[in-house]
Amino acid sequence: MFTGSTVAALLFAFSLLAFLYNNNWPRLGSGLVRSGRDEQREIKAPERSVNEAAARRNTAGSAVRSEKVGISGDRECTAAPEARFDCARDRTLTRGECEERGCCYGPLSGSAGPPWCFYPRSYPGYTMGPLSPTTRGQTATLTRKKPSYLPKDISSLRLEVIEETTGCLHLTLKDASSQRYEVHLPGGIPESSADNQSVFYAAEYQSDPFGFIVRRRSNGRVIMNTTVAPLLFADQYLQMSTSLASSLVSGLGEHYTSILLDLNWTSLTLWNRDMAPHADANLYGAHPFYIVQEEDGFAHGVFLLNSNAIEVMLQPTPALTWVSTGGILDLYVFLGPDPQSVIRQYLHIIGYPMMPPYWSLGFHLCRWGYTTSKTTRRVAQSMHDANFPLDVQWNDLDYANKRRVFTFDPWRFGDLPEIVDEFHQRGMKYILILDPGISSSSLPGTYPPFDDGLKRDVFIKNATGHVLIGKVWPGPTAFPDFTNPETRTWWEDCIRDFHSKVPVDGLWIDMNEPASFVQGSVEGCPDSDLENPPYTPRVVGGRLNSGTLCMSAQQKLSSHYNLHNLYGLTEAYATHSALKNIRRKRPFVLSRSSYPSIGRFSGVWTGDVRSDWEQLRFSIPAVLQFGLFGVPLVGADVCGFGGDTTEELCIRWMQLGAFYPFMRNHNDKPNAPQEPYVFGQKAQAAMRTALNLRYSLLPFLYTLFHHTHTSADTVARPLFIEFPTDPNCQSIDKQFLWGSLLLISPVLEEGAVELAAYLPRGTWYSLHDGQPFYSGGQYLLLPAPLDIINIHVREGHIIPQQEPALTTTASRRNPFFLTVALSAGGWARGDLFWDDGESLDTFETQNYCYLIFIAGQSQIVSELVKLNGDLDGLVLGGLQVFGVPSPPRFVLANGEKVGDFTYRTDTKVLTVTKLALSMSEVFTVQWTL
Ligand code: NOJ
Repeated sequence: MFTGSTVAALLFAFSLLAFLYNNNWPRLGSGLVRSGRDEQREIKAPERSVNEAAARRNTAGSAVRSEKVGISGDRECTAAPEARFDCARDRTLTRGECEERGCCYGPLSGSAGPPWCFYPRSYPGYTMGPLSPTTRGQTATLTRKKPSYLPKDISSLRLEVIEETTGCLHLTLKDASSQRYEVHLPGGIPESSADNQSVFYAAEYQSDPFGFIVRRRSNGRVIMNTTVAPLLFADQYLQMSTSLASSLVSGLGEHYTSILLDLNWTSLTLWNRDMAPHADANLYGAHPFYIVQEEDGFAHGVFLLNSNAIEVMLQPTPALTWVSTGGILDLYVFLGPDPQSVIRQYLHIIGYPMMPPYWSLGFHLCRWGYTTSKTTRRVAQSMHDANFPLDVQWNDLDYANKRRVFTFDPWRFGDLPEIVDEFHQRGMKYILILDPGISSSSLPGTYPPFDDGLKRDVFIKNATGHVLIGKVWPGPTAFPDFTNPETRTWWEDCIRDFHSKVPVDGLWIDMNEPASFVQGSVEGCPDSDLENPPYTPRVVGGRLNSGTLCMSAQQKLSSHYNLHNLYGLTEAYATHSALKNIRRKRPFVLSRSSYPSIGRFSGVWTGDVRSDWEQLRFSIPAVLQFGLFGVPLVGADVCGFGGDTTEELCIRWMQLGAFYPFMRNHNDKPNAPQEPYVFGQKAQAAMRTALNLRYSLLPFLYTLFHHTHTSADTVARPLFIEFPTDPNCQSIDKQFLWGSLLLISPVLEEGAVELAAYLPRGTWYSLHDGQPFYSGGQYLLLPAPLDIINIHVREGHIIPQQEPALTTTASRRNPFFLTVALSAGGWARGDLFWDDGESLDTFETQNYCYLIFIAGQSQIVSELVKLNGDLDGLVLGGLQVFGVPSPPRFVLANGEKVGDFTYRTDTKVLTVTKLALSMSEVFTVQWTL
């Protein structure tokens, strides 16, 4: 028999073996310095470089040719094409110019792929001085004797190494002698420190040229190795490369991609931009975070806290190069060890997501083109008449007088206040769009938001200190500077004033990249280093100020050059806090632009998606990626925003959209209508089924949001997060999970009436009829007629549900029911978080109920873990138990015989109805076999 210590010894021996096996050491310089926490061991540098080793390992479908190439003629220049790191990222170089930089020149056929001018094996860089201890880690100075090829090199850097927690290592590299711009996330980053000696990482440093390696301690695997290419740190150009532990990389949003990024010489730019989703473009948000699946169930993540324009080059080695146009290198490494822990560690730094109001999980209906309040009222009424659930009616810019925010059109929307009251009386909510651009061309004294804003000095200035004027929907506009506290107060005053007339329930903050229809400003931009940096990442429009403000524009905190990517975040923060102060209820904000931390304040939608099948399919990875970025409240415009939808597409989109955490049907002005009631009866029936299914699952979805708010669990979850050791799940992004137990397999192709769905190992029950599928980890061909979306429940789980209704105000009063999916051994577990759905901080102030349900040995019992809230009067109306092996003889509820139950021998489903068990008391339901 193994004792605890034998197991420990075996584990240690195994880790040691794994470590030695993985010990592909790079060519480290003589001055190897180890992190203070790493045990002292002798390290021998092997002969070959990481580049070569990695190149040999590479199996990714690289487009590189293996032909011998004529290279600068030096053994320093023998890197395999896929292992080359670009020495001419800033501009195209001739052979002479390349060699003048001290780099290798090796032309290849074709234009895409490996660089022609690349770094030799050793290239001069920074030299690192000795590491000395600090209160939270270590510090060292880096110096560069020979200047790099970049203008305004920073010759002396300070390295700080902070051991944040056992699973999170934090490294910063800054100018040693002067202050540079640094990102400060709103509300700050929580202070924490490693609480014991058992950190998951070991960091090692190469002193000349400087580089570092982070390893996973348990198996020695290299997580990061920056010695593969030189570190560059100039005023407007910061570059750091690293090898990657595998080719399974996700993140680095916002882009139109699959869940796994393409490493075949892809470049991804993080620069917020008003741009309809399509491939190879920088989109609305910037998330400099990636997660790597390490191929054996382990995972790690890396976050570069930097808000400048960033380009990330991915290459098949596999490796990655960060290039930023400013700020500092502020790097967090998260060691997991499993994918969900990586996300939790990341969210520990950027903040856990907010708890959304319950109603915001209902169905939302919007379009640009509800041109009058009469139309808006009619739309909501038609939804009601056709029996479609609808919680929130929206209006786009149509409501605003001359498209100016904080006003409403007196002719077309004169009765807006009354309409909002009517919605409220029906138990519905109302949301309006709010663009940041404030019209600057109204006659003085006629538009208070601008006049007042001028007086209070809240607008972004141009380089000469005058208010910068751009152009958006209302014409010339000024842009609030949300980094200025006075702006936030002014913004709150504007919202308060408007809200006193039109009591909106939430705000939709659009165009907040910020978008402008002129380049920089109506007067153009000055010629300066900020407008024309030595290096501009590949951005749509070719210039940083394309479709937005001048880079030299001045904000309270810094230049727009540094702050651009934070605009949406700072607006979301200001809007969230304004709504909180005004309504004293949980705010709802939906933002287009995003940056890490935004999930604390806002949901996000994925912008102007086209009504086509491809965009339907790519909406899944888009939604899943926002989950990884800490923005669980996310969805795409259901049925598509751009272009006409078709009936079939809209059915499939409503079915998939019923499982976006945020579900809104939204349409552009010129398009054919796409409200559910405009379609034929069959289509309507399918859409109604999808909506009712969503509404019935809202108690479960709300409980998932509670878990993301309190524990950073993901809501809409990629399969690899839940099944990290199943290689089949690594790349799946046409299916996804809600939490750990509900598998959604939508139809994404025109004309399809069946689909191949992957079911990870175990028993999965169809949510429709309880039909079990025993999967060995395999694809199954499932019927998928137009009125069906395939949903499977994982064995061992219990889902709390409620009878649907036309609003959540009504459905929240309906009886609950439970879907119990028994494991092979007859067990299952589930939980329910419940509160009033809209008060502030109910979890933090203990004003909630939390129930656990446990099924086993032919009974289900509830446990009231916390009972401080709104469950009074609510009852359990019934349950369905999947996987009951034989017909029960009778069913007892709290010890009393129940008359209304059925059992199906074909599917082995027990259904109990007409119960009325108080949810605020412990209950037991037994079935006797
Ligand atoms: C752009 C947004 O992405 C879209 O959803 C909205 O309808 C238009 N702006 C008009 O406000």
